[in-house]
Amino acid sequence: MPLESSELLSRSARSRPASAIRSLLPLEKKPNMISLLAGKPNPNGFPFESITLQLKPSAEAGSKPSGEPMEITIKGSQLEKALQYGSSAGDEGLLGEVDKILSRVHHRTRGDGQPAGEFGLTLGNGSQDLLSKAISVLFDPEDTILVESPVYPGVLPELVTHKVQICSVESDEQGLSAKNLRETLQSWKSSEKTKHLKFPKAVYTVPTGANPAGTTASTERKREILAIAREFSVLVLEDDPYYFVTFENLTEDASSPERALSYFELENEQGSEWGYGYVLRFESFSKILSAGVRLGFSVGPKPLIDAMVALTASTNLHASGASQAIAGELIQYWGVDGFLRHVTNVARMYKERRDMFGRQLDTILGGESEMPLATYVTPVAGMFYWIKLHLPPTPEAPEGDSYQVISQKALEFGVLAMPGAAFFADQRKTPYVRASFSLIQPDEAREALFRLRKAVLSAWEDAGYETVPRISS
Ligand SMILES: Cc1ncc(COP(=O)(O)O)c(C=O)c1O
Repeated sequence: MPLESSELLSRSARSRPASAIRSLLPLEKKPNMISLLAGKPNPNGFPFESITLQLKPSAEAGSKPSGEPMEITIKGSQLEKALQYGSSAGDEGLLGEVDKILSRVHHRTRGDGQPAGEFGLTLGNGSQDLLSKAISVLFDPEDTILVESPVYPGVLPELVTHKVQICSVESDEQGLSAKNLRETLQSWKSSEKTKHLKFPKAVYTVPTGANPAGTTASTERKREILAIAREFSVLVLEDDPYYFVTFENLTEDASSPERALSYFELENEQGSEWGYGYVLRFESFSKILSAGVRLGFSVGPKPLIDAMVALTASTNLHASGASQAIAGELIQYWGVDGFLRHVTNVARMYKERRDMFGRQLDTILGGESEMPLATYVTPVAGMFYWIKLHLPPTPEAPEGDSYQVISQKALEFGVLAMPGAAFFADQRKTPYVRASFSLIQPDEAREALFRLRKAVLSAWEDAGYETVPRISS
């Protein structure tokens, strides 16, 4: 049975009136139509003649045969469109490019007449914008969401302000644990922890290079989780901004490496038996084109995407037209092959940083140091190391609490990192810290890790230990 996603819609999403103007806008495209409809500004008042993008010569197809940097110019009617109010779901040009990427990468083609093609697509101001809209259209106060734990804290404020009950599912080395998810759902009505709560509508996960845990789910793990979601009629919120920032199987010729299949693609398996609509996927251009371009997209069940677009129509109207034109023109220039070569090059750059940071971590805090003070799993995607510090135990925190160590001591020693507590919905005490390796230079990384080491040693000293006990394995 397909998931009846329209039944998941929140009361506010169901009762939102259509935007009076925006619902008539498509009629402007009818032949011979004269429009007195929208309050569109007259482009003659805009001071821009053209937008020219100059690529880095080192970028994919970034230079001309002469060796000069490649330039892409947006002008005339194209520029007018980019500078005008546009469709709330997104500009057709960029949507078309995203459709091509979806077909190639996830093997689902929107509107191809197949059941797998029956999905909606919308662009947004980054995936953050779309995540918060998804939360708004899905959840009423007292509804429940399952989140992997640790969790990307960017979703928590919106959930909290919507008064959504947040139930954590402990992650393992592959992120969201199928075993824990099944146990949680199976025992929902009998467990003391959950029996007073509504049955969850959705489970939220970052399957690739999770923020903060750095974990990546294999295809097999995702298969298991999708099977559970289908069995219990729970929607999977697949937040995948690091999908292309994966470090394994990067081939020399930068052609598309093998990546774990997305939940969105996996819906095709047994799609005829289960139907579709169990996955709402979020992708981002932030890590692969630029964060400031503020573009991401969401694909999934049409009723949910339509409700998100309706929310866009009454909030920010649409993502920036200039940004959409820049991304659309660039991807069109590259073609999907070029786009995939570009993202593979980006992944290769992050892999080098991961390797550099990992080597320093191993020798300064990890297993190759004289006295190891941290354990961690090497991330195979994303931008983060999730480091378990070896800290003095306290009655409330048997494995230690990184909060004070990171937010006070480390700061005094001159190093900033994210204390692990920020990534738990229950704000528990945790020995973990999140370290980002996306920007750091080798010298800085070395110094930062030495300072972190000093902070940990100082915490032991403060706790009255003359020697630090060895990490128990
Ligand atoms: C897991 C996760 N989701 C969403 C976002 C937001 O990304 P965007 O820039 O596309 O809004 C981030 C940003 O770091 C993230 O780590």
